[in-house]
Amino acid sequence: MASTHGAARILVASNRGPVTYTQDETGDLRSKRGGGGLVSGLSSIDKDAGAVWVCSALGDGDREAVRRGVAEPGVRMLDIPADVHADAYNGVANSTLWFVHHMLYQTPLEPVFDAEFRRRWASYETYNRAFAQALADEAADGAAVLVQDYHLALVPRMLRELRPDLRIGHFSHTPWAPVDYFRLLPDDIAAQVLGGILGADRAAFLTQRWADAFTDCCHAVLGPGIPSGTRIGVHGLGADADFLRRRAHEADVDERMAALREQVGTAPDGTPRRTIVRVDRTELSKNIVRGLLAYRQLLDDRPSWRERVVHVAFAYPSRQDLAVYRDYTAEVQRVADEINSAYGTPGWTPVVLHVKDDFARSLAAYRLADVALVNPIRDGMNLVAKEVPVVSDEGCVLVLSREAGAYEELGEDALVVNPYDIGGTAAALHQALSLPADERAERTKRLAAAGTALPPTQWFLDQLHALD
Ligand code: G6P
Repeated sequence: MASTHGAARILVASNRGPVTYTQDETGDLRSKRGGGGLVSGLSSIDKDAGAVWVCSALGDGDREAVRRGVAEPGVRMLDIPADVHADAYNGVANSTLWFVHHMLYQTPLEPVFDAEFRRRWASYETYNRAFAQALADEAADGAAVLVQDYHLALVPRMLRELRPDLRIGHFSHTPWAPVDYFRLLPDDIAAQVLGGILGADRAAFLTQRWADAFTDCCHAVLGPGIPSGTRIGVHGLGADADFLRRRAHEADVDERMAALREQVGTAPDGTPRRTIVRVDRTELSKNIVRGLLAYRQLLDDRPSWRERVVHVAFAYPSRQDLAVYRDYTAEVQRVADEINSAYGTPGWTPVVLHVKDDFARSLAAYRLADVALVNPIRDGMNLVAKEVPVVSDEGCVLVLSREAGAYEELGEDALVVNPYDIGGTAAALHQALSLPADERAERTKRLAAAGTALPPTQWFLDQLHALD
């Protein structure tokens, strides 16, 4: 009897897919393709493998595309009801699981796991079940399925029940919380999250530290720990050197560099001002405000840097549906303005803050950077730390938080900081600005080599092969 299963031999599942749709004034749909490690990984797969990417419709344009049957080959977008998606994505994934893994709660008052939370959790289950069902429908016998991130923690177990023949991997792109923090979650929810991921044949993480934290949580919450059927893996995603080097030398990047140089200006002695660059999505975990405070401390402790340095901070809006993200974004702007009005002079703007996402301008800043500031409270990996050394024109010094996953690979050649320590970060910024050119060049070379050791395609294929 012919199998009633689907045709896909390789499947990827993630909340955000590789394409988004917007509707213009005339009602026409426009599609925009995204980038990232998964996109380049999947594009390297043989077309005959019948790869399918299952993702969620995120906005009205996406929903309209699903209703009209508009789709890119190999992409299956799920039209999950908007209220269910909002509860699952904003209410659970972003406000709860993200907070736990990045340790972001102000614990005297939060989290509160009440009836409202339970209602949202039911939506999270519904949303995960919709993914599991779609994957079960699309997958050929024995296909490989790579499930991504905290949005879809329950999918591996649900899918395993529907399709025991599949080979299932789960990958966490975030840190994993330490046991005591993970146990803020109600016991049954904690067990469901872990048990969901343990439905996979393989649970993989960006660093050994996050993999160990996951294992610790399994022992503490589930007792017997990791079942013998589940393997734990580590794949440290690296920067895509070929793409970055090519893209960073296109005309639009050159234009942005000229404009940035103009904004940064020259020091009183006529030389170009030094730059401390940061590029982030404005996530609560990125620690942009403390970065600004450390910069202010530098100007206080070492007034000789005044007029001679500019903090170029690109902080691109993220998850603006959540009030705490909106408040944090406003705080970044407020502190930047405060520094500019307290220290700025007619010819010198100490902080150049841009909030409108512009990839070409980000690359221009990477090329110009004397110092790259990457100081997250916690971060799964942080690709900016790996990308800047690759495209930097004259070498740059990396000031890196020890709480970023990238620290495991780059720590030796970076200046390492405790992200909460403003004085320590200010001192590291001074040291970074003062490092002799030859040492800076040597460090940059080693950082670029370490940061590109596992390019996205390899990272993806390794995970696929590990499921064989
Ligand atoms: C960051 C994290 C990923 C996560 C993504 C979701 O990049 O490192 O783990 O999947 O955010 O972002 P989104 O904009 O879709 O909420």
